[in-house]
Amino acid sequence: MEQAQQIRIIKGLMTHLDRGTNVDAGGQVRNPVSGYTCPDRASREWDVFFQDHPQILGLSADLPAPGTFLTSSDLGKPILCTRDNNGEFRAFLNVCRHRGTQVETRPRGEKRLFSCPFHAWSYSNTGQLVAVPKEDHFGPVDKSCHGLVALPAEEKYGLLWVNPNAAGDIDVDACLGGLAPELAAWQIGTFNATGQTRYDHAMNWKLAVDTFGETYHFNVLHKDTLASDLYGNVQMYDTYGRNHRMMLCLRNIDALREEPEEEWHILRATIPVYFIFPNIQLIFGRGGPTLVRIYPEGTDPHRSHSEISFYMSPEIDLIEMDEERRAKYRDIQDRMEGFASVIEQEDYVAAASSHVGILSGAQEYLTFGRNEPALHHYHNTYRAALGLPPLERISN
Ligand code: FES
Ligand SMILES: [Fe+2]
Repeated sequence: MEQAQQIRIIKGLMTHLDRGTNVDAGGQVRNPVSGYTCPDRASREWDVFFQDHPQILGLSADLPAPGTFLTSSDLGKPILCTRDNNGEFRAFLNVCRHRGTQVETRPRGEKRLFSCPFHAWSYSNTGQLVAVPKEDHFGPVDKSCHGLVALPAEEKYGLLWVNPNAAGDIDVDACLGGLAPELAAWQIGTFNATGQTRYDHAMNWKLAVDTFGETYHFNVLHKDTLASDLYGNVQMYDTYGRNHRMMLCLRNIDALREEPEEEWHILRATIPVYFIFPNIQLIFGRGGPTLVRIYPEGTDPHRSHSEISFYMSPEIDLIEMDEERRAKYRDIQDRMEGFASVIEQEDYVAAASSHVGILSGAQEYLTFGRNEPALHHYHNTYRAALGLPPLERISN
């Protein structure tokens, strides 16, 4: 991030703290609860956002070397991603062209030849069918047209993009809506993957997304956890087309007040949280980024899950460090994983409770406040993408 931008954001947060103000969306909006429970709406979201729209399935570090792979079933169809022998990122339907069995079942690993577990038709990591056992018995197979079905795939700014629609396309810069230079500056491609976890939740996927959309709740829901490191109900917020950047405010920001501005670093004062349409939260901590991917369970409006992946700077080589530094960076890593467990045990518990409340019929709409601009933006973005009018704005 450019230094001028860092200073603008840090000063903005300091000003909010000094004046007792926060970012202001200029009014409240009402979000109809039907948007979280309506089967038709869920079905349209699945089709438009998750079946025919570029998806970030990981960061470059998830395919760390030629010959590595990862699989995903988050989009309702089996997908195999590879880094081929030349280092190129590729994606395929993980479907054997013989009788449809998934050629790879492990979530990730290293493999250059994918041999189907049913009859051992075998595919290279560029998707070519290279072997059909007992072809003299089976009969001839035209290998040139029975390779794995390729999906549009692009690796850019350290992000792995796949379009689950084989006939679709990917325009990464258009998807990022102006965020590209800033994401490029984070050098996302340089981090190492350190672990993954998955949370299943009994709620609409957008309720999980909403938990990332405000800091109004920090001093209440997170009073015994995150609130010791973060100021609640204060943030800086900017939108980039369908995406946004929300800056959480670390209490450590106060230490910067005595230091010259040119020495300020954004990660000492804030936790940047990027939302990338439709389902990504990319959170930067001092040790490295955390990627959160939130998915509905197909067209079911009542169930969803999150895939959370952790990454660490390659400069943080725990083996090479003395014990004191190793403990410090372990602590940073533990903090990011602790942050994720707070999401599971606090945010997602409250959000699943919202889903129960919504189903009760107690009210027709949820209210998003002036201090929650990300919630306005998420939902108006989703609505616009589905051809729906913006949320009702109430004057106040
Ligand atoms: S289904 Fe894959 S080899 Fe038969
Ligand atoms: Fe939270």
